[in-house]
Amino acid sequence: MSVYAYRNDALYMEEVPLATIAARSETPFHAYSTRSLQQAYLAYDKAFAGKDVLICFAVKANCNPAVIKTLGALGAGADVVSLGEMLQARRVGIPADRIVFSGVGKTRQEMKEALKQGIFQINIESESELRLLDSVAQSLGKVAKIAIRVNPDIAPETHAKIATGHGETKFGVPWRDAMDMYQLAANLPGISAVGVAVHIGSQITSLAPFEKAFTKVVELVDELRRFGHDIRRIDFGGGLGIDYQNETLPNVENYARMVLKLTEPLKCKLIFEPGRFIAGPAGVLVTRVLHIKEAPGKTFAIIDAGMNDFMRPALYDARHRIFPLRKETGASRPYTVVGPVCETTCSFGDDLPLPADLKAGDLLAIMATGAYGSVLGSTYNLRLPAPEIMVSGDRFSLVRRRPTYEELNQFYRLPVWS
Ligand code: LLP
Repeated sequence: MSVYAYRNDALYMEEVPLATIAARSETPFHAYSTRSLQQAYLAYDKAFAGKDVLICFAVKANCNPAVIKTLGALGAGADVVSLGEMLQARRVGIPADRIVFSGVGKTRQEMKEALKQGIFQINIESESELRLLDSVAQSLGKVAKIAIRVNPDIAPETHAKIATGHGETKFGVPWRDAMDMYQLAANLPGISAVGVAVHIGSQITSLAPFEKAFTKVVELVDELRRFGHDIRRIDFGGGLGIDYQNETLPNVENYARMVLKLTEPLKCKLIFEPGRFIAGPAGVLVTRVLHIKEAPGKTFAIIDAGMNDFMRPALYDARHRIFPLRKETGASRPYTVVGPVCETTCSFGDDLPLPADLKAGDLLAIMATGAYGSVLGSTYNLRLPAPEIMVSGDRFSLVRRRPTYEELNQFYRLPVWS
């Protein structure tokens, strides 16, 4: 059930009118719904009820400690791709044995920390990484439990910039080399290869590419076992799409049914790394209209959120719904909604229907920004990062404050000769 609704013409998140938060906080700000996070996680969890499953929230989608902790309280683990993310997950109490470390370029230091913390699994993406991890593990007197991330060479039917499962990307070990990598791993004393990992891309809106990729992975597990490799885990990554603009989507129950059917004979532990599915719908970016500008053929609504606050439109041509915080009762008309950053790509879309009488000072919500929203933010144009606010029922709380200009500047130094 959606946590967003208009009541008395005001847009609510759970029991809080977003305009009430805007009255207390500067705009723009990110707001996250606790209930939405919980609902999405529990839907995923329920779809696999009774099975040997570990659901690791992909922290890259939203690294706010309040978000990770909310999910951790429901039993979620964490999928991390840097030392920073690993420390963040540990800090809010995600147990080490529920953490998977992914990513194409882990450093020696990251490997060392991961092994010291005793995390559940490290996903290896190249021979070079495998050999480095072996040497780090041996130097610590440990054996690293790993999965090798294979590239199934599947066209994932998503935006080219977020596809990872086809042959030409940097991700995973090329399919033809997978068997050799496991043979090599078997001969490395610091390595125990216990699983196979795959992640084909993000915002995938059909089950077909998943099914194709996972079928290949299941065949690979069979073959590996025939060669004596004791494979006990499969990590399916993330990738389930969400509703940004009325996409037709596979539901998580059908996704789970497909995975369980394919993997039933293998009796493996199943690992998932959903990011967007959990955090995306939970977040909105609340912004204020600064100016309305009429130009030939279009009307611009210039808002106080920029591409530095929310990069997805600039980076992937993503389009998100934009709703007024006060429901339009009169006519609407199309606007081109743009931010203040000095780049043509600082735009949130053309032909967005908003109230015909939209004016400076009005508040808008950019919807479904909870995943890959604030995390992709920057201080471009020396703009201060937007604060983050968590909503739960009728309460809301600041969970990341906006830094000051002094704080932003504290990392700069003039050269010694100046
Ligand atoms: N596991 C691995 C190894 C990944 O690389 C990713 C996402 C995930 C899990 C989580 O995928 P999800 O369930 O969120 O689709 N910034 C882009 C998306 C980048 C995805 C990167 N990897 C966007 O805003 O569309």
